[in-house]
Amino acid sequence: MKKYKEVVGDGGSNIIAQVTEKLSALSARMKNVKYKIAVMSGKGGVGKSTVTVSLAANMAKNGFKVGILDADLNGPSIPKMMGIETAKLATEGDGVRPPTGAYGIKIMSTELFMSAHGQPINWDGPSSTYSWISVMEATALRELVADTAWGELDFLFIDLPPVLARFRDLTQLLGKLDGTIVVTIPTGISNRIVVKSINAVREMGSPIIGVIENMKGFACVKCGAENNPYEGGDEMAESFDWIGAPYLGRVPFDKKLLALSNEGLTEPGANAGGALDAFDGINKKILAFVGETRS
Ligand SMILES: Nc1ncnc2c1ncn2[C@@H]1O[C@H](COP(=O)(O)OP(=O)(O)OP(=O)(O)O)[C@@H](O)[C@H]1O
Ligand SMILES: [Mg+2]
Ligand SMILES: [Zn+2]
Repeated sequence: MKKYKEVVGDGGSNIIAQVTEKLSALSARMKNVKYKIAVMSGKGGVGKSTVTVSLAANMAKNGFKVGILDADLNGPSIPKMMGIETAKLATEGDGVRPPTGAYGIKIMSTELFMSAHGQPINWDGPSSTYSWISVMEATALRELVADTAWGELDFLFIDLPPVLARFRDLTQLLGKLDGTIVVTIPTGISNRIVVKSINAVREMGSPIIGVIENMKGFACVKCGAENNPYEGGDEMAESFDWIGAPYLGRVPFDKKLLALSNEGLTEPGANAGGALDAFDGINKKILAFVGETRS
């Protein structure tokens, strides 16, 4: 209640001061985050959230302090994929402590503020202090970042929805990101959309780390033979050269990754092996890109 009075102390008319206060809290928190990496595509359902969780898990497994910001406000999937969707939230200092999943990964998502019926009840703190679920999505995103006690992080991975506007909101909040990973699948349609997204990200001033080609091929469970259900994806490695976006690697279709969206990454090592190994090579490229020498 006290905090509520502080924030809207003048009867709610001082909106500029409130926003300024939020933004300075946000930038103070973000100073403790070494690298902010967005995962986007522009195309829906290509595996952005799966890639985010897998890169985060691999990075944390290698000893880095990792957080995930679920910037998909209306279709959040990170808590489920990390197996923490029923986590209770608690305060820490003047913010909310992000629940941790496997490998100690810190997670923040609008989903953590929802009950099964979409009501924002999963919250121990004073309900008048925060207005998390806002009709203004940019505002909700700002609150999600500013009011989370992230602590010190090496990497904050940010999972984006297919909407480019959310990427714009994000860069307006955080400034230039340290890099963006673009996810595609081996189809012409996906690649066309991804080229547009790469251009848009650059126009918004954030560097592109490169492109991941997801769901590229799978090994037959019976005979081990390689199959590629998508046609025309083989030229992928070269197809983004002209736009200057490096090819970071392919991730095969893998049942262990599919299991992420059903069972979640509940235990360290539970989803190790298979396609998760592909993320080892991709993370080495991310480390090289940001200039991080520990590995
Ligand atoms: N390499 C893979 N192997 C097997 N399943 C995968 C792989 N990549 C993604 N999936 C599955 O495909 C589905 C879509 O993946 P995901 O939710 O990560 O996509 P998205 O791009 O984040 O979607 P949205 O645009 O809705 O945010 C999920 O069920 C996920 O488990
Ligand atoms: Mg997603
Ligand atoms: Zn076979």
